[in-house]
Amino acid sequence: MSAVRVLVNPRAAARAQPYPVALALDAEGFAVAAREISAWPGYAPTPLLELPALATALGLAELRYKDERGRFGLKSFKALGGAYAVRRVLSRQPRPVQDVTVTCATDGNHGRSVAWGAQLFGCRCVIFIHETVSEGRAAAIRRYGAEVRRVKGNYDDAVRHAADAAAKNGWHVVSDTSYEGYRDVPRDVMHGYGVMAGEILAQWPADRVPTHVFVQAGVGALAAALCASFWLHWRERRPRCVVVEPSRADCFYRSIEAGRPVAVHGDLDTVMAGLACGEVSALAWEVLATGADAVVAIDDAYALEAVRVLAAPRAGDPVVVAGETGGAGLAALLALQARPELRAQLALGGDSAVLLLGSEGDTDPEIYRRIVGRSADEVLAA
Ligand SMILES: Cc1ncc(COP(=O)(O)O)c(C=O)c1O
Repeated sequence: MSAVRVLVNPRAAARAQPYPVALALDAEGFAVAAREISAWPGYAPTPLLELPALATALGLAELRYKDERGRFGLKSFKALGGAYAVRRVLSRQPRPVQDVTVTCATDGNHGRSVAWGAQLFGCRCVIFIHETVSEGRAAAIRRYGAEVRRVKGNYDDAVRHAADAAAKNGWHVVSDTSYEGYRDVPRDVMHGYGVMAGEILAQWPADRVPTHVFVQAGVGALAAALCASFWLHWRERRPRCVVVEPSRADCFYRSIEAGRPVAVHGDLDTVMAGLACGEVSALAWEVLATGADAVVAIDDAYALEAVRVLAAPRAGDPVVVAGETGGAGLAALLALQARPELRAQLALGGDSAVLLLGSEGDTDPEIYRRIVGRSADEVLAA
């Protein structure tokens, strides 16, 4: 049987507690990123889709899905972070851009964003991927002119390879993960993600707020950026922040349990490729240690079910093309559907208005076809 675990954060901030001013993510950083990114060619807000029939089936009042498939042609929200951080790195550089090389590790989407940013702004780019990153995702990165190097081990090993190569060659690491002594770039990445939160704030009906946001976490940069944005804007009315992880890469679950960052080792094998991370980002942890209200860890079967449910909607709901990682929030709701005792722990019920982050579309079209049995085009045409 597929498993789901829920952990309510014992250190979650009280509703009335203001956003801690000492945190690295701030309103100014979000505003600067929004001004810059919204001026890029091809910028348009992605849709916030309503799924009323699915909401009813799940016993919820409202369900809305922020669909990032159309983001700058890259098919994921990651387009906002990596490329923006490349821009910021270049703006801090005295050297001509064509002499600068940026690098990072990726499980697919972040590297695609960095490669796209490098191409857009004219610098060189080398991307490190680990053993199980699909060839489709590697090819998508090469299409933006980057060199792709595949290394042994898991995502965290690729992170170390990128750092070593950068130190040796004088390259710039544009990582979405922050660690001791490395904060500025991941901070830029997270402020870039805030663009999505800004759009949601404008798109959510003005007289209401969501009660819950279910947001998937790899290193936690996405979850922290949204958590901080909503805390800054909606303050004590902010939604409960529920972090979703794969059972086999549950570093936030374990960290929230322990009250400090705890790493998960091993191959971190999960179909939710974007979430196969064993170590939390230090900056993300600073926000989520008290900003996350709960963590849900789910087995892969729910992620696959979520992709299929979104591809074959109930009458009245739109068709949604989501990748295995993009559907993780819905996967958690599906996992909780028949577990009233776990729903109660999250205060999830008939009056809940839930926001899901559709963080990616069919970022690997072949994998998508294998899961759904049809291509994205066929699904959308049905
Ligand atoms: C599609 C998608 N969603 C969510 C995430 C998780 O983001 P983060 O690593 O910032 O937690 C990723 C990370 O690669 C991703 O690719």
